Amino acid sequence: MTSDCPDTSSALKIVGISGNTHRPSRSRALVETIAQHVASQLPAEYVLYDIVDAGPGLGAAFERDELPAMAERILAAIEGADALIVATPVYKGSYRGLFKHLFDLVDPLALIDRPVLIAATGGGPRHALVVEHHLRPLFGFFTALAMPTAVYASDSDFCEGEIVSPIVLDRIAVAAAQFAALIGLRARQAYAQALSASGSDPHGERTLPVRLIRAADGPEIVRIAPATGSRLTG
Ligand SMILES: Cc1cc2nc3c(=O)[nH]c(=O)nc-3n(C[C@H](O)[C@H](O)[C@H](O)COP(=O)(O)O)c2cc1C
Repeated sequence: MTSDCPDTSSALKIVGISGNTHRPSRSRALVETIAQHVASQLPAEYVLYDIVDAGPGLGAAFERDELPAMAERILAAIEGADALIVATPVYKGSYRGLFKHLFDLVDPLALIDRPVLIAATGGGPRHALVVEHHLRPLFGFFTALAMPTAVYASDSDFCEGEIVSPIVLDRIAVAAAQFAALIGLRARQAYAQALSASGSDPHGERTLPVRLIRAADGPEIVRIAPATGSRLTG
């Protein structure tokens, strides 16, 4: 069946990456919580991976062509994402080595201008500036758009694997709102361009379709994908 409508089937893709090597993981929970906040504001497809998904072969690969299939899939997801939510546990005052190794294998040109919400978890508050002194320069290398509000959470901010600290939750709300606003603005611009290019009613209501699903493919992946009904204003 053909349609005169512009193609909106390619939903925004937001990829979460967590540097944890075990589960349950506070870093992974942090990425999930941030993604839920963003998802409440922004129609998109959300996929979350961690280093457990990549498998132990990640550490054994000196070069990209030595990666196991799942680790390569994660790298492709990072490079193909419209935006990233990235968190790492703090290890010895910095990001986890395997987390850095994963990003060492990312194409240096793949993340230019890409919005990235950066976050970290640590045992206590002492290393909170890891987000500013380690993660922000990493994404500066990629000339990605690291969001101004980064998120850090300590062990005591969690209870039974969930973030319970009102201060951290407030911080997540601010960071997620900034992130969603930037991505939403870009999506509206792209959609308006698509409408204009298709010649269909550029002054009508602009509706970007979304629905919520659980991914069937891949290990423990959260996904929110296109459907009908959600509206972007503007
Ligand atoms: C080997 C190792 C080194 C760590 N180094 C630090 C550190 O330097 N600073 C800190 O605040 N927490 C440190 N931690 C604590 C973890 O960062 C913290 O528990 C984190 O939330 C774990 O995240 P995860 O559950 O996602 O693995 C370390 C933990 C381990 C196992």
